[in-house]
Amino acid sequence: MSLNISNPETLDLIMCRRSVVARNMVPPGPDAEALQKILTAGMRVPDHGKLAPWRFLVFQGAARARFGDLIADAYTEETGQTSGPTLKGLRGFPAQAPVLVTVASVPSDAKPIPDWEQRLSAGAVCQTLLIAAHALGYVGQWLTGWAAYSDGVHRRLELPEGARIAGFLFFGSQGEAPAERARPAFDDIVTHWPED
Ligand SMILES: Cc1cc2nc3c(=O)[nH]c(=O)nc-3n(C[C@H](O)[C@H](O)[C@H](O)COP(=O)(O)O)c2cc1C
Repeated sequence: MSLNISNPETLDLIMCRRSVVARNMVPPGPDAEALQKILTAGMRVPDHGKLAPWRFLVFQGAARARFGDLIADAYTEETGQTSGPTLKGLRGFPAQAPVLVTVASVPSDAKPIPDWEQRLSAGAVCQTLLIAAHALGYVGQWLTGWAAYSDGVHRRLELPEGARIAGFLFFGSQGEAPAERARPAFDDIVTHWPED
């Protein structure tokens, strides 16, 4: 396998990538072959200690509704609510777009790599999944929300102790083209230290 092949078009892709709101995505989502490529790209992120401290849970088709029921159960357990718009929204959350990949940050203590670095690696996974999906002509959005922070959801997903949900990555196709959003001013972010 060749490594580090230059590809200036990749920068074009990064510069024009825009999230598409998950509920505005239309079918199709990535098919099996495309999804395999997207997820494999996600596994190539920098990872101090080669710990692979992340797991990908894929929800497609009816699995999305089952995940929605799981989230709703967790919400009812936590709040006592058995109906209402919030519960309805949470139940429908996973099925709002064709494909959902839940990225879990699952730190390992096999080597003395700081927890922070392992969490950052999970963030890199999420962004790489977005770029890979866009490279294949799909669109994506990285969401979190209540379910990402619910212990009841973590337990029902059987995530190991210490795991956190880094993101719900939704994928589909673009319906309406999104508008550009405000971006930071370059000089607000970048400081060049004097070279002499
Ligand atoms: C960790 C993380 C969690 C996010 N969670 C949400 C969310 O729950 N709801 C939301 O509207 N946007 C959320 N966003 C922002 C969107 O993913 C996206 O960045 C935003 O819509 C702007 O998009 P773009 O610059 O990717 O086009 C989150 C971003 C990150 C990095």
